Amino acid sequence: MNKSIRRYKVVDTSDGSATLYSKEFDECYHSTKDGALSESLYKHIIPAFNLVGDRDKLVILDICFGLGYNTLATLYYIKEHNIDIEVEIVSPEMDRELVALLSNFDYPKEFEYLQDTIDSLAKYGKYENNRYKIDIHFADARQILPKLSQKFDIVYQDAFSPKKNPLLWTKEYFKDVANLIKPDGIITTYSSATPVRMSLYENGFNIYTHPKGSVREGTIASFATLNLPAVDMELKKQRNPQANALFDSEFIY
Ligand SMILES: C[S@@+](CC[C@H](N)C(=O)[O-])C[C@H]1O[C@@H](n2cnc3c(N)ncnc32)[C@H](O)[C@@H]1O
Repeated sequence: MNKSIRRYKVVDTSDGSATLYSKEFDECYHSTKDGALSESLYKHIIPAFNLVGDRDKLVILDICFGLGYNTLATLYYIKEHNIDIEVEIVSPEMDRELVALLSNFDYPKEFEYLQDTIDSLAKYGKYENNRYKIDIHFADARQILPKLSQKFDIVYQDAFSPKKNPLLWTKEYFKDVANLIKPDGIITTYSSATPVRMSLYENGFNIYTHPKGSVREGTIASFATLNLPAVDMELKKQRNPQANALFDSEFIY
């Protein structure tokens, strides 16, 4: 991909993997400090796979596809750990033009073996073999979620930041996610912001942190009780009555 393609600019991150800067959202697709691949692995894939335990099949909601690091790192993690599992990934993404460019994106070497998968996703928005099924839905995530019929084991919540992409972090939005997740499913996100955690908590999710490792702290949310450090959201409310969930109605359309 050229250094500057219309609305995007290629940016190197701390672990050597490349991401993009979006001119439209004035933000990078990944944390340049944590590294694109490291952020995907340590904030989403590793906590998710450690928590969901043994299942024959995983149904994953990858919000939003972007450069596809979370989807590709999921396949890479399964291969590296010889996990015998079927995977279905559903991923909303409103930017069809971006995904069409991904065949030429300079991915880390860990994804080299996935070039056929990347090419299929770039061209058709789909990939399928006997174990994996990936479907990108090219539209606004808020319109797609209420139409999905699957129940998900894992949700990677990876929109741009609440400041730049507020409608994908509200209490109303997480209600749609809550309707789609299995009772023992989990949400992973890089955000540790209290209003985001409150938006999840007020939909009935328990809020947890996970061991930081080499990246900054994110959030794990689940209806189930997990063996992770819990965030006391009631205490947060008492100490800071201003710590409100984000509401759609707070934003001007
Ligand atoms: C932070 S990036 C996602 C990074 C991605 N998970 C990855 O691993 O490369 C956010 C993505 O959300 C998409 N997006 C923003 N608002 C959206 C919406 N309302 N519906 C669907 N996609 C949206 C943007 O086009 C962008 O690709």
